[in-house]
Amino acid sequence: MNLSTTYLGLTLAHPFVAGASPLARDLDHAKRLEDGGAAAIVLHSLFEEQITLRDTGRVHQMDPDDARFTSMLAAYPGEHDYALDPDRYLDHVRRVKEAVTIPVIGSLNGVTGQSWLKISTEIAQAGADALELNMYEIAADPADSGAAIERRIRDVVVELKSTLNIPVAVKLSPYFTAFAHVARQLDEARADGLVIFNRFYQPDIDLATVTTSPRVELSTNAELLLRLRWIAALRGRVKASLALTGGVAGPEDGIKAILAGADVVQMVSAVLRNGPGFFKVMRKGLVTWMKTRQLASIEQVRGTVRLGAASDDAGSLARAGYLRTLQSWRDID
Ligand SMILES: Cc1cc2nc3c(=O)[nH]c(=O)nc-3n(C[C@H](O)[C@H](O)[C@H](O)COP(=O)(O)O)c2cc1C
Repeated sequence: MNLSTTYLGLTLAHPFVAGASPLARDLDHAKRLEDGGAAAIVLHSLFEEQITLRDTGRVHQMDPDDARFTSMLAAYPGEHDYALDPDRYLDHVRRVKEAVTIPVIGSLNGVTGQSWLKISTEIAQAGADALELNMYEIAADPADSGAAIERRIRDVVVELKSTLNIPVAVKLSPYFTAFAHVARQLDEARADGLVIFNRFYQPDIDLATVTTSPRVELSTNAELLLRLRWIAALRGRVKASLALTGGVAGPEDGIKAILAGADVVQMVSAVLRNGPGFFKVMRKGLVTWMKTRQLASIEQVRGTVRLGAASDDAGSLARAGYLRTLQSWRDID
């Protein structure tokens, strides 16, 4: 059975990839992912704030000597609070590359297109097979328009594509007015892949202390459907590879992601819960399902369920589906 998959121009043995996270935080864990059956590894991110702090002592242009910024700067992690400083991150890329045979993808995480991006070249030189760029931004400034935010992201991709000789994937949030248009703009900017979607970690309120409680919650597959819809909507409409991230809890979710059109399926929460060997479980689940349907290659699976998104009028079909879904409440037990 042929599960071989192309992602960002890289050939992978199958579609299940370790997503950006501490899953590959050291060499031992990276090797465990490979032994556990991951087809590729995305390393955890190096953050814009880490790099500007090191290079200029500033975070988002805030001068630490200016009293107006004291409390805001105190809210950010200090330079030594991050897992790896920029130099050690580069070293990590180099060492993981030497230790495993599967592709290794570096990750940069930020909001601006400023000088911190120079490090992308060093990540490429350190041996990364590709770079994932996570533009994680909470657009809370009323003066910042959607168009301006989209232009910023596009400009970063244009800049990276003009300087880097490795593929670039862009990890995005779903919170755009017209996500299909954003995807097309990035496709035209020659992004090699789109990673769909970032999860937003929204702080809860602790009623005992009446403060916010920042805590990473692992995902459940309740988050999958939004991703399936958008992967299906973009399949065949952009040249970029499509990676689904968010809400893949087991083999059935992984198969759905491929049916919707994902080239690869990134996983973090499920692997944190079940261990690195879960990649073998995912692969086996896919093989078993394909056998029962007498499918011999992943290409016979990928993108074959379009969730009503293949039509030229996908928006209208989606609206029709929405109306039908609301009418189905009577079937609820
Ligand atoms: C503990 C933890 C650390 C993460 N670190 C990063 C990171 O450094 N960079 C990044 O782009 N995403 C990071 N993520 C997000 C994951 O890559 C992924 O997009 C998200 O967890 C959704 O996938 P899942 O449902 O398989 O967990 C992290 C997630 C978790 C749970």
